[in-house]
Amino acid sequence: MAANLIFYFNNISTDATKTELQGRHACTLLWKIGKFAEEQPCFAPMNLDYCLSQLICPVCARPLLAAPGRWHCAAGHSFDLARQGYVNLLPARGRKGQSQGDSGEMLWARRRFLEGGGYQPLLDAVIVAATAVAARHPVPGFTVLDAGCGEGFYLSRLQTALAREDGCFLGLDLSKTAARMAAAANKSALFFVGDLRERITCADHTVHLLLNIFAPRNPAEFARVMASHGRLLTLIPTPRHLQGLLGAEDVIGMETAKEEKVEAAMAPYFDLLVVEEITFPLTVQGEQLVDLVQMTPRARHLPPEKYTQMRRWSAVDTTVSVQMLLFAPKPDGLLPTG
Ligand SMILES: C[S@@+](CC[C@H](N)C(=O)[O-])C[C@H]1O[C@@H](n2cnc3c(N)ncnc32)[C@H](O)[C@@H]1O
Ligand SMILES: [Zn+2]
Repeated sequence: MAANLIFYFNNISTDATKTELQGRHACTLLWKIGKFAEEQPCFAPMNLDYCLSQLICPVCARPLLAAPGRWHCAAGHSFDLARQGYVNLLPARGRKGQSQGDSGEMLWARRRFLEGGGYQPLLDAVIVAATAVAARHPVPGFTVLDAGCGEGFYLSRLQTALAREDGCFLGLDLSKTAARMAAAANKSALFFVGDLRERITCADHTVHLLLNIFAPRNPAEFARVMASHGRLLTLIPTPRHLQGLLGAEDVIGMETAKEEKVEAAMAPYFDLLVVEEITFPLTVQGEQLVDLVQMTPRARHLPPEKYTQMRRWSAVDTTVSVQMLLFAPKPDGLLPTG
């Protein structure tokens, strides 16, 4: 098989392809299946076998199996691996639904803003909390699911910070563009398209740390996938988040989720362990201001001329105001039926 691989690398067409393929963790999957066709996407996140064992078919919940260029279940449901290195696990009926998740424009704005350090204190808080959760799981095998991962910033940074060689880092988002961007930037996590309002494509009680950052929630499914000693870490904006960003009288229109509301929704399944307020001043101007506005749901409703105006504004002062909630699954928590 090694000879096959060397033959393959020596006969592929471009140096660029060669470098890309060699860079991807020696392409575990291709090694395993022994198929080296050029059109085959090279797809090898860290601990692929372990990651695959954590996932289920979104249609029938059977285990997923690897085949050349696709994953499938024993019932014949099949999901293609995209060349960019993500998997679309949305069942066909879900692909025609109204919502496609965040647009490329919003995702690129978020990528620039986050990479620029605009929400650094939020990332720092997530890393501190997640490190404590990881320390409670010294045994091999640590699964992190970022539900609503966007372009992958938090999951990727956390993966680097935790440096768990035994880890499986999963990122789920409804937006195909999000999965594509995330996979392009991080080949060692596994990003997939899915709808977290439906069945989450993780097997029961597999996730040790579930991240949910400014994204929709599904308490029943979160409880089902959560390992018994796992933790759910969620960030929600308070009503004061980004106030005044578009002018003194304006609020940003972000859907704010009050702690009590979230806690009530989680209560049948989870106990709230810790609430941490993260508040810090933020001054933005020019492209950074535009990016921050474009990250919010309000962006969809603003006319293009508003952005032209915004670029000319002098610096705007606002406040980041977020609650970080840490939940533990109730030992006797409800499990969804069916
Ligand atoms: C405000 S963004 C936050 C992204 C990321 N957690 C971050 O903070 O950078 C919300 C994300 O949730 C995703 N999303 C919305 N509805 C979803 C659903 N039903 N299932 C999965 N993801 C969804 C969007 O595509 C978007 O990427
Ligand atoms: Zn199936």
